[in-house]
Amino acid sequence: MPVMINDQTLQFHLQGKDVSYVFHVMKNGQLGQLYFGKKIRNRSDFSHLSKRESRVTSSYVYDDDSTFSLDLIKQEYPGYGTSDYREPAFQIEHPDGSRISDFTYQSYELIKGKPRLSGLPATYVEDDGEADTLVIHMYDKVTNLSLSLMYSVYHGRNVITRSALFTNHGEETHVIKRAHSASVDFPDADYEMIQLSGSWSRERHMSERKLSPGIQSIQSTRGTSSAQHNPFLALKRPMTTEHTGEVYGFSFVYSGNFQAQVEVDHYQTARMTMGINPFDFSWTLGSSASFQTPEVVMAYSKHGLNELSQTYHDLYQSRLARGKWRDAERPVLLNNWEATYFDFDEKKLLSIAEKAKETGVELFVLDDGWFGKRNDDRTSLGDWFVDSKKLPEGLPNLASKLNDMGLLFGLWFEPEMVSKESELYQKHPDWVIQVPGRSNSIGRHQLVLDFANPEVVDYIYEQMATILNEANINYVKWDMNRYMTEIGSLSLLKNQQAEVPHRYILGVYELYERLIEAFPHVLFESCASGGARFDPGMLYYAPQAWTSDDTDAMERLSIQYGTSLVYPLSSMGAHVSAVPNHQVKRITSLETRANVAYFGAFGYELDVTKMNKDELKEMTEQIRWYKENRQLLQYGAFYRLRSPFEQKGNVTSWMSVSSDQTKAIVGYYQVLAEPNPSFKRLYLKGLAAEKEYEVSGYEGTYFGDELMNAGIQLSSGYDGSQTGGLEESGDFSSHVFVLVETDQNNRGGEV
Ligand code: DGJ
Repeated sequence: MPVMINDQTLQFHLQGKDVSYVFHVMKNGQLGQLYFGKKIRNRSDFSHLSKRESRVTSSYVYDDDSTFSLDLIKQEYPGYGTSDYREPAFQIEHPDGSRISDFTYQSYELIKGKPRLSGLPATYVEDDGEADTLVIHMYDKVTNLSLSLMYSVYHGRNVITRSALFTNHGEETHVIKRAHSASVDFPDADYEMIQLSGSWSRERHMSERKLSPGIQSIQSTRGTSSAQHNPFLALKRPMTTEHTGEVYGFSFVYSGNFQAQVEVDHYQTARMTMGINPFDFSWTLGSSASFQTPEVVMAYSKHGLNELSQTYHDLYQSRLARGKWRDAERPVLLNNWEATYFDFDEKKLLSIAEKAKETGVELFVLDDGWFGKRNDDRTSLGDWFVDSKKLPEGLPNLASKLNDMGLLFGLWFEPEMVSKESELYQKHPDWVIQVPGRSNSIGRHQLVLDFANPEVVDYIYEQMATILNEANINYVKWDMNRYMTEIGSLSLLKNQQAEVPHRYILGVYELYERLIEAFPHVLFESCASGGARFDPGMLYYAPQAWTSDDTDAMERLSIQYGTSLVYPLSSMGAHVSAVPNHQVKRITSLETRANVAYFGAFGYELDVTKMNKDELKEMTEQIRWYKENRQLLQYGAFYRLRSPFEQKGNVTSWMSVSSDQTKAIVGYYQVLAEPNPSFKRLYLKGLAAEKEYEVSGYEGTYFGDELMNAGIQLSSGYDGSQTGGLEESGDFSSHVFVLVETDQNNRGGEV
């Protein structure tokens, strides 16, 4: 039974595959948290798990019970103002100016399956048997507001999802100041917090810190989830590794301003809260109106970070991403951005496409610069009609020429933006995010369209739909290249101005939803100056995302490794680009560039017409090999073996294993060559202990248990005398090797 309810003690026990989550109704009618962790057996009453002694300095709710201080008690969705001094999950300002709410338990509802969240991305079920949902209905009698806390537990996964819904049943208007989606009070604070942080071209680097008293917080105030911090955090025990120990994950299915934090209090307990960033946010809740928070996906692993990642990969790949492309092998693409930037015409594009086709590329993507008068990044965003100087025969014609070559055609848009120098801006200066009387800061010479205004969303939909209808387009790269400033909307009332960032994101979701409904065959790839909006919210609409503008193979090791903490390989756009690399000027071999990019949705981003014969031959072979293995590379179980964030980051290794464990592909990468290096072994993961494998580059066969426990000896190639094994020498070297189960009849060896 995934949800066990005791109607006497009003205790709720959610059980996933190997996880339990227990809470109850406390004596003040609010919800108290009892347990979150490894699956435990049910009992009629767990309330002892929340017992506290009184503390002389505490404020307490009842005169005759000094132990009942909310400061001491683990809570489920805490408010501020009634004896708990930690940061709350929510806060509402009422018409009388007060900020105290008291939501008390009314009833519960048990739903088979998992309801969708209206207007918001969320994980889903395909069959109601996959999950159960518990909704706890709470009510504040003084304000006539209700709060419904929704919990879904997936059978067979270690995942519990949460969200909250506020509804105003009274006549007066209230203002939500803070509405997080989930809050978890941990009984101790002996954890390390892992976050994915960075900046443009170095997104989602893993960093860790030991929890210490006070608040440790990550957030975005930029209007997108951002490159600076991903909407994710994990709490792991200090001894937890990639493959052992306990870890909790919290991932926010949202693409705008978020906050995720852990507060360690004076009793060394830890409160994790996650949701829309309360900074610069408020929401006016009029009579009969509701406010739905986005979803937080909580995951649990008793076997380290890698298992946590696999839980997210599997869920996000199969029950967050949607549509025709969700489970499909992703096409090998060639994108013209780093090949031509803005400098192209049809002839040039077709000559690149032709060569690309010869090497085995399947999809040609025309990036920025095809519309308006866009010869640089100062102009034309918003004018979504073809530049007839560059493409005199138009997009439909270009598409059919590419189709005739046997290529799919993909196109770049930046729907949320407008250039000052554009017809759209001349016509509608009122359609940009702005604060009257203030000048508008610029980013990449462009302004942000007011997607909080439905009229703007409608207009952009029409523009994009026209293009998608008239040309045969199979892929759209949806870019977003600046953060928000001077946030305000001319379409909203004064008291709604702090709603703009959230309404904007709802507008983005609305546009995506309409487009994927009207053009279900299109593969969407999200992008925001590279990976500045690589989040679960986007994956609901676009099953892949451009991981980073940094295409350097060595930089990509950290970026892809960090990204893999939450996101599946099928979602990570990864391209081979030219050298010297355009971002860091590094020169790496074509082999190493492909060896890194293979572990993702693979493609090229260079001018193939400038490649020599040998390079083209190598590229052709790379594509042939990738196609043969892409099912495994995009959808296999992913294991991180060596971290670029440890041991001076010189070695990274990872592998993908097929679901039947008959095949695996390992990537091994070394940044700098070492003189007279130590003897290295690589311990593989995820193989079947009893299966016997051939390993490319090695003589003989090996059982899975040997490969995982004794490992394989890596050859450094340092003195050139070794034969067989991994030939590692020189800077930026890499090796990909393939393990295939030997013929079933050819088995030997006993355990
Ligand atoms: C930023 C993206 O990340 C790049 O890949 C490219 O599409 C440029 N924008 C185009 O302006």
